[in-house]
Amino acid sequence: MCGIVGYIGTKQAAPIILDGLSKLEYRGYDSAGMAIYDGEKINIQKSVGRLKVLEELTHAGATMPGFAGIGHTRWATHGIPNDVNSHPHFNAQATISVVHNGIIENYIALKNKLIKKGYQFVSDTDTEVVAQLLDYYYKGNPMEAITKVLHRVEGSYALGIMFAEYPDQLFAVRKDSPLVVGKSEDGCFIASDVPAILKYTRTVYYAENQEVIQLFADRLQFYTVDEEPIEKEPVTIEWDAEAAEKAGYEHFMLKEMYEQPKTVTDTLMPRLKNNDIVIDELQMRDEELAAVKKIHIVACGSAYHAGVTGKYVLEGIARIPVEVDLASEFRYRNPILEEGAMVIVISQSGETADTLAALRESKARGFKVLGIVNVVGSSIAREADSIMYTWAGPEIAVATTKAYSAQLIALYLLAMKFAKVRKTVSEEEFNALIFDLKRLPEQIELLLSNKEKIQKFANRYIGAKDIFFIGRGIDYAISLEGSLKLKEISYIHSEAYAAGELKHGTISLIEEGTLVTAVSTQPDLYQKSISNMVEVKARGAFILAVTNVGNTEIEKAADYVVYIPQTNQYFANSLAIIPLQLFGYYVAVGKGCDVDKPRNLAKSVTVE
Ligand code: M6R
Repeated sequence: MCGIVGYIGTKQAAPIILDGLSKLEYRGYDSAGMAIYDGEKINIQKSVGRLKVLEELTHAGATMPGFAGIGHTRWATHGIPNDVNSHPHFNAQATISVVHNGIIENYIALKNKLIKKGYQFVSDTDTEVVAQLLDYYYKGNPMEAITKVLHRVEGSYALGIMFAEYPDQLFAVRKDSPLVVGKSEDGCFIASDVPAILKYTRTVYYAENQEVIQLFADRLQFYTVDEEPIEKEPVTIEWDAEAAEKAGYEHFMLKEMYEQPKTVTDTLMPRLKNNDIVIDELQMRDEELAAVKKIHIVACGSAYHAGVTGKYVLEGIARIPVEVDLASEFRYRNPILEEGAMVIVISQSGETADTLAALRESKARGFKVLGIVNVVGSSIAREADSIMYTWAGPEIAVATTKAYSAQLIALYLLAMKFAKVRKTVSEEEFNALIFDLKRLPEQIELLLSNKEKIQKFANRYIGAKDIFFIGRGIDYAISLEGSLKLKEISYIHSEAYAAGELKHGTISLIEEGTLVTAVSTQPDLYQKSISNMVEVKARGAFILAVTNVGNTEIEKAADYVVYIPQTNQYFANSLAIIPLQLFGYYVAVGKGCDVDKPRNLAKSVTVE
């Protein structure tokens, strides 16, 4: 989704903005632009294509001198990606300039009204309406114009705004789209995400919905939508800038896969105390946990896949009924939430629009929501009733790996906590689960160290047309994620199927040589999985199997086997997903794809 960076201070603004935008490239974009005040007027440069084009156009910012400016990377929603539709947008005299992340839902009505008043539009975007509406309301007082606009626009927005008549100030405002505000000795910043400004400051403020921020070179002030000043406490970012750099790896995705042992440890260990599980963040007493009758897990994409695994683990270990929903479905299906239900939303970014809406829907119905979130201070983290952070650190690659692994750990911990209070596992079983949990980081490390084997195998499939993933139970959940990893970065068509379901239609797609990846980590389902492998093999499929070490019987059916170390059957996802992540990664690398920034995708999906 779109990225915003703004700066006002004592340094040249353009290089800082370009640098900040480069740290937001992971969000996905198709064009980029900047508006810089040069001492007399606002200069605007924008272009379709990668940030590199804008850098070349402005000689790395040198042709746009000035100490205040706003910049933007656009992920097209309204209007095709082209120069005109790129941001910043501006009024006819180019005295008011705007960058925007989000969607102005009532832009057509507003645009028609402005056209009737004589305004002319040059772009197809919803954002241009904001620039023109600001012009309409601007009578010399920027705050007044901004607050009037806020009362008229509907939808989601993070806006950076400049007025040529107020060159010593920048303005920003947000509603349901992320925005952080930073302050350093050299100036003040706005950005869609912390990595964009981390090089310059660790002191950030999180803007709440409809707060207006006025930034000067040496200070900033928050206001309510009614222009009342607000006092806000800054937050210090603990992680360092290197955490958001590639550190010698070819891609962020590879680096993040390699960070998984640490991510798992960081998410797990603070919650293991004296061989017990302590999740203080839940803010629920054991009796309250024991009284939960049903759990609803709601999420999107990989976080949803983690939720599907969560269902099997929670139901298996804690014997508690779990329903898992895609957030985009949950929010509009009038879900039945009965007394005693608990809602869990899962999100890496904490900004996914559908997941946030599902959270709000649940809260509006009077249900408490637990958020499993990675980004500290994100919207979901702030709006959930309780929050369990996955301590994965910044995840930059669009395809999630380490955050997904951390989400699994959070769900295992919850399942074990519920199991303990509901007394569905014996002490012996509980201790064995803890033992296996603690071993996961080193087992993941071992699987990562075998990457060459997967790489060689992946190279054989860079020309594949279709690749299928099958599995039963938790193995189906693993297959869903393995398939998504592959298709989102390699653009190879892939589907995941519950292994027993393939023969109800999809098996007709299997041709001579089609790769079918069969995940088989659940001992009680080994034989069933082998039967399903044999079915597709008989239709010409080549079978890659991922199974537990020791299950050599699988070699009778599979053509190629990757073994994962022994663990408790409920934790197998954490291990089996590693070769599948590596497989997707190396197929994409082999095809020469832009692994970290796959086409059409955004890291944080802040529109529905
Ligand atoms: O930030 P979130 O976890 O809420 O994001 C959810 C999905 O958009 C995300 O998992 C997406 O599917 C990833 N590209 C998967 O790699």
